[in-house]
Amino acid sequence: MSTIILGIESSCDDTSASIIKNDTILSNVIAGQSVHEEYGGVVPELASRAHQQNIIPVVFKALKDAGITAEDVNAVAFTRGPGLLGSLLVGTSFAKGFALARNIPLIEIDHLQAHVLAHFIQEPDNPKKVPQFPFLCLLVSGGNSQIILVRNHLDMEIIGHTIDDAAGEAFDKCAKTIGLPYPGGPLIDKYAQQGNPDAFTFNKPKIPGLNYSFSGLKTSFLYFLRDQLKENPNFIDENIPSLCASLQKTIVEVLMGKLIRAAKETGIKEIALAGGVSANTGLQNAITTEAQKRGWQTYIPKLSYSTDNAAMIAITGYYKYMKGEFAGQDVVPYARNK
Ligand code: KG4
Repeated sequence: MSTIILGIESSCDDTSASIIKNDTILSNVIAGQSVHEEYGGVVPELASRAHQQNIIPVVFKALKDAGITAEDVNAVAFTRGPGLLGSLLVGTSFAKGFALARNIPLIEIDHLQAHVLAHFIQEPDNPKKVPQFPFLCLLVSGGNSQIILVRNHLDMEIIGHTIDDAAGEAFDKCAKTIGLPYPGGPLIDKYAQQGNPDAFTFNKPKIPGLNYSFSGLKTSFLYFLRDQLKENPNFIDENIPSLCASLQKTIVEVLMGKLIRAAKETGIKEIALAGGVSANTGLQNAITTEAQKRGWQTYIPKLSYSTDNAAMIAITGYYKYMKGEFAGQDVVPYARNK
């Protein structure tokens, strides 16, 4: 028997709906929000309003693209958190209404767990290899940097996390200091490809265990620029590619250092990336190089499943549905990590 799940994602500035039939994606619709561009970051109040405008058309399109109607949906899964509370409330309220109207189960999803399970999304007629349990997942996004030990679809343990900024935040904040628009991560990646990664050095964090820290690197980058600009007011304009390449190299080395350590300590060789920063070419190259050296099997998600999307919410919903893990109508979102 097949199970059809409607997934809803509204944790930040993307309104997304997806239909999944068992583990196979039928549709994944994402409406971004250009309203934030002029502010250099996401404005929570504006995000909530845009979600309100987008949610119904996005769900309608997801149903239409999948070739089904609301009557065919067996359960509705939604992002409960972490994220912006006002944004989460829109998706949560919609999902509650849909479940109530259709008299079907409501399934609450942790956004970070969903990023990990994005690796299990199958596409019709194109079966792909999925990570074998247990595996390690480096989850790197604008809000999180974590190393997760994944024992099973619904059994995960965070064995390392950032104690301050996330890797994506480090990319975005440093990009801002050199005048690049938000989100700066993809632009740093682009410029880095023309620069010299060894041109400049920045302080790397010295944090014990498997945890990360990126706020010191951001400060080191800022002070370095301040000193250079005193000598040469055109320093940034003249060095953008090498600044980006050197910064990217440092962030990637920090991320890889702890991941290699986690792989050694656990003896696990199945290694996955997740989250928006997994699109970074420097990180992808580093993980591929380490895989060859260390005999790892690596899994890099497709871009459309690594940034925020509802397909990952729907697939997580599918695994929870199979275990009968449902939420009540009194469920409320949470803004911070559980
Ligand atoms: O997972 P995601 O789409 O959203 C949340 O954090 O919720 O991640 C967005 C983050 C941003 O910080 C963005 O700058 C970063 O991912 N990012 C990248 C690249 N593509 C996206 N960072 C570095 N290199 C990239 N190619």
